[in-house]
Amino acid sequence: MDFEPKILGFLCNWCSYAGADLAGVSRMQYPPNIRVIRVMCSGRIDPQFIFEALRVGADGVIVLGCHLGDCHYLEGNYEAEKKFDMVKRFLKLINFDNRVRLDWVSASEGARYAQVITEFTDHIKALGPSPIGGDNPDKKILNNLKAIEDAASGDRMRALVGRERKITEQENVYGEQVDLEKFNKVFDSAIVEEYQRHRILVSLEEDTKSIKSLAAELEIDPSVVLEHIVCLKSRGQIDFGEFMGITPMFFKM
Ligand code: FES
Repeated sequence: MDFEPKILGFLCNWCSYAGADLAGVSRMQYPPNIRVIRVMCSGRIDPQFIFEALRVGADGVIVLGCHLGDCHYLEGNYEAEKKFDMVKRFLKLINFDNRVRLDWVSASEGARYAQVITEFTDHIKALGPSPIGGDNPDKKILNNLKAIEDAASGDRMRALVGRERKITEQENVYGEQVDLEKFNKVFDSAIVEEYQRHRILVSLEEDTKSIKSLAAELEIDPSVVLEHIVCLKSRGQIDFGEFMGITPMFFKM
């Protein structure tokens, strides 16, 4: 039987939803796999919405907004672009970045809406079903996605995404402007660090564990796990409660 993907679409009210409406009233043909959630602006899409949709089994997620410069709230879609960039970078870590797409469709582009949805549906069909959809989801990927979801909603990532445009496009009070390349380096290392830290936290939800067992389970060098453990302890997110012989066992607070 042919695979029929489950696709979730977040459409901004003023452009893309109206574009979808136009495609409908013009009787344009496109695959029926998409289920639409209307939001007032693409800037309203919290990365959590996308991660959660994938976690509960969507095979693909598409976000559509007004063309850049046309957002009814002026800069909402520029913000959406930054958040989506972070989503893709995180999802790349678990090879899921090709299951999401951000695009722009205006209210007069019914044909373009049909074309974008057709292309995306064909693309997801070619990828096949999500390994975390269905009755038997891959537990390891599911845990890693949970770690990503938690990492992306943490203060550090929210602060970096929220300030990226201001930091890289404008000068600060000292007349300095941060170079985009430099910012991207900081951003990429923050993504990897927060991902690994939250993988540790997700793993500690199951049981108390030692650094050695965490390192073996998560396939991270023990010295790196130790660095993350020190950071998580200083943040008050973990603690150690008992010793197995001389080995401290950590638990999630
Ligand atoms: S109103 Fe459409 S993207 Fe902001």
